[in-house]
Amino acid sequence: MVDNGEALSSQLKKVAFRPRARKKLELTFGPGRAADLIGRTPEAIAKAEAKGRLPQPKIGSNGRRYYTLEDLTLIRQALGIIPGKQSHEPAVVLAVQNFKGGVGKSTITKHLADYLSLQGLRVLVVDCDPQASTSSLFDVDQEALWESEETLAHFLAPTAPLNDFRLTIQDTAWPTTKIVPSSLGLGEIEWHMVAGAEGRQEIMRRFGLLRSGISQVRREFDVILLDPPPAMGFLGMNVMAAATGLVIPVPARQLDFLSTIHFMTNIADTLESLQGYDMGVNYDFIRVVASNYSRSADGETGMLRILQQMCGTNMLTNPILASEEIKNSVQEFRSVYESDKPISSHKTFTRCRDNLDLVFAEILHVIRQQWPSTSLTGFDDRHLLDGEAA
Ligand SMILES: Nc1ncnc2c1ncn2[C@@H]1O[C@H](COP(=O)(O)OP(=O)(O)O)[C@@H](O)[C@H]1O
Ligand SMILES: [Mg+2]
Repeated sequence: MVDNGEALSSQLKKVAFRPRARKKLELTFGPGRAADLIGRTPEAIAKAEAKGRLPQPKIGSNGRRYYTLEDLTLIRQALGIIPGKQSHEPAVVLAVQNFKGGVGKSTITKHLADYLSLQGLRVLVVDCDPQASTSSLFDVDQEALWESEETLAHFLAPTAPLNDFRLTIQDTAWPTTKIVPSSLGLGEIEWHMVAGAEGRQEIMRRFGLLRSGISQVRREFDVILLDPPPAMGFLGMNVMAAATGLVIPVPARQLDFLSTIHFMTNIADTLESLQGYDMGVNYDFIRVVASNYSRSADGETGMLRILQQMCGTNMLTNPILASEEIKNSVQEFRSVYESDKPISSHKTFTRCRDNLDLVFAEILHVIRQQWPSTSLTGFDDRHLLDGEAA
């Protein structure tokens, strides 16, 4: 079968792997939304445009001003607004971590990346899950990766043929977001990582591969998001060692809750073993967020309260609500931030976005706290937190 398959594959590529259109973003923003994202009032922006401090805005067929993502970047630059870190500061490396599958890790990674990008931050997403859901949401061309020797798997192979982490990075449809995609080969990497892992020095080196890769590019991005594999093997350890902070999604259901306690214990043990290998991690923050939460569901409200008691101030105030809009968007391989046209009703769409905005504003606030300079750059994110604790 393998022989036949290899013979067939070149034929298949000609027939099935036709070059297809890649995802394009056609997002535009009205003056109000643009001003919101920039962190200034619409009046201030109109004034700067009138004075010639900013380029003249585009005018739509309806006579209204509108802006593209690139325009927002230009305006921020012209007004001296730095939404992210200063160039000498390192990126925040945030893992959306929970060993359970189906709790919303990939969905959150994708939506958080898009949210941060809208706010003007430079984001790198590293998809460490062989299932590659996040890569699909970013429309990564798996066919092209098939023959590539510049993948995450090549970089993480203990006898790495690839030393330059930068080569694994690809552009996405979002101008300020890049991705290190997952590929088929990542599924086998665990095995290669375990084989021949003997001696303290060698194990240490193998736990630290991703961390050292990321350190090559840590000053070039504001936030690096890690979507972890579903189990805690060598690959999982690499994610834990590379992260500087964790966001843990937990569905507020009893079974998920018990597995989360188990997960916390597991994390604590993992951190201890990393410590034992002199790979000590001291996370700058850990935040738990209730995910896929519905207020009406039996017992979920009670579970949310128990979760809050357990996590205290490490728990985000707003839960991520279960939403048809998220479910349907993900099915169409996109996030709810990637279109202004609701899939469900307009009400569901707005409710969903407002909820995500609130949750992610809390996360962005924590991210900004990691950069001492942010208090000096004139960026004020308090307005983002306004609707807190809905
Ligand atoms: N807030 C939400 N509302 C509705 N569906 C959701 C939500 N979060 C996740 N889902 C759905 O749950 C499924 C699993 O989510 P996923 O992000 O792939 O989980 P994980 O990465 O943890 O395995 C997906 O089909 C996704 O559409
Ligand atoms: Mg996933």
